[in-house]
Amino acid sequence: MILPRTSQTGDDSSLFASIANDIASKGYSINPVALPHDLAYLLASHITTMPKSNFKRAGIGRAVSHKINDFVRTDAISWIGDDTEAGKAWLDWTTALQVFLNRRLFLGLFSFESHFAHYGEGDFYKKHKDAFVGEGNRILSVVVYLNQYWSKDDGGELVIYQNQQSTSAVINDHTISVTPGFGTIVVFLSEEFPHEVLAAKRDRFSIAGWFRLNSSIANNIDPPS
Ligand code: OGA
Ligand code: MN
Repeated sequence: MILPRTSQTGDDSSLFASIANDIASKGYSINPVALPHDLAYLLASHITTMPKSNFKRAGIGRAVSHKINDFVRTDAISWIGDDTEAGKAWLDWTTALQVFLNRRLFLGLFSFESHFAHYGEGDFYKKHKDAFVGEGNRILSVVVYLNQYWSKDDGGELVIYQNQQSTSAVINDHTISVTPGFGTIVVFLSEEFPHEVLAAKRDRFSIAGWFRLNSSIANNIDPPS
C-alpha cells in the first residue's frame, strides 16, 4: 500500500500550527530548514535538472498588461503543475497547509498558484507587493528555498519591510532579512508586506506561491493565472 507522503515522513501539523500562530500574531512567518526533507530534496533535484528552456523571463502584471521589466525583476520562472512527481508532491503539501490554515484561521483560501524561480548571478527582484488592497485576491504568499550550502556571501536575501505606516522621518523601516537557505519556508500576508530580492551572487532557486480567495462570478471559475 502506498501511504500519502505525510504518513511516510511524519506529521506537518506542528509546523503548520506555528505558521498559523505567526500569521495571526504578526502577519508573517519565517521557518529555517522547515520543509520536509524528502520533499525539499525532490524539489531541489527537479528544479536544478529541469531543462533551462522550461524557464521563461518573469514579467510583471497579468495577461494583457504583462510586461518584462529589467528594472523591476530579472529572474526566470516556470509555473508548477501536477504533471511531475515533484510538482505533485509540492501541491499535496501546499493543499495540506491550505486546509490547515482555513480550519485554524478561517481564511477561506480557495486556490493556489506557484512557480519555480531561478535567479542567476546578479539577478534581483526590486521592492514590490504581491497583491494590492481591493485589487487582486492573493491573500497569502509562500516562498521556499532550495539552495544547499548557501552562505551569507552569496547574497540573494529576501528583505521584508514592516511598519510602512510609520510617518516619522527618524524611524527607519523595519526590515527582516532572510537567507535563502535549503528548506526555509517564508509565509506572509500578500497585501501587507512589501519585499524585495537582493542580487544573488550565484544560482538561486526558490518556489513562490500564492493562496487566493475565490472570486468566481456566476459559473465562471476565476482562473489562477
Ligand atoms: C516573488 C518573490 C521572493 C523570493 O516571486 O514575488 O517575491 O525570495 N519572491 O524568491
Ligand atoms: Mn513577491
